[in-house]
Amino acid sequence: MLIKIKHIGILIGVIFSTLIVAQNAGNRIIPKSADTITNPFASDPSKAGEGARVYKFVCWTCHGDRGNGKGPQAEELENKPADFNETLVVGRTDGALFWWISHGGTDMQAFENSLTVEERWAIVAYIRRLQRK
Ligand code: HEC
Repeated sequence: MLIKIKHIGILIGVIFSTLIVAQNAGNRIIPKSADTITNPFASDPSKAGEGARVYKFVCWTCHGDRGNGKGPQAEELENKPADFNETLVVGRTDGALFWWISHGGTDMQAFENSLTVEERWAIVAYIRRLQRK
């Protein structure tokens, strides 16, 4: 009986530590299925320019005008805005970035209802342009 109680204790420990890990990583998780969302405007090179205009209204205060995560509002946040040149962000698919902008994170709001599908894809194109610089 004693042995069984010990096992239950270990099991509970494992469950809790898994939950904590999941929570810590939770703010940067994008579901795999987002990779298959395709960009209907991918062939239009003017989209990055449109994305830049929208970005300068709604994103730059946190992510900075060059996308380095050092916008004026970044200081006040508990979770730091991403630098678009981080390996993690560079490695994301366009679909994953589109999903992220739509759903948001911890200190980042979801833009699903305030930006159109077209505006969100335009911003993805602009993020790619910033990453090349
Ligand atoms: C209020 C501040 C704030 C605003 C405004 C904001 N973000 Fe963020 N963003 C964050 C924070 C903080 C993170 C880090 C993850 C988290 O904790 O939410 C982040 C993460 C990201 C990431 C990294 C996702 C990943 O893991 O690959 C991208 C890309 C991004 N934001 C794009 C945008 C875009 C595009 C906009 C404008 C439509 C925007 N953000 C507006 C705060 C902000």
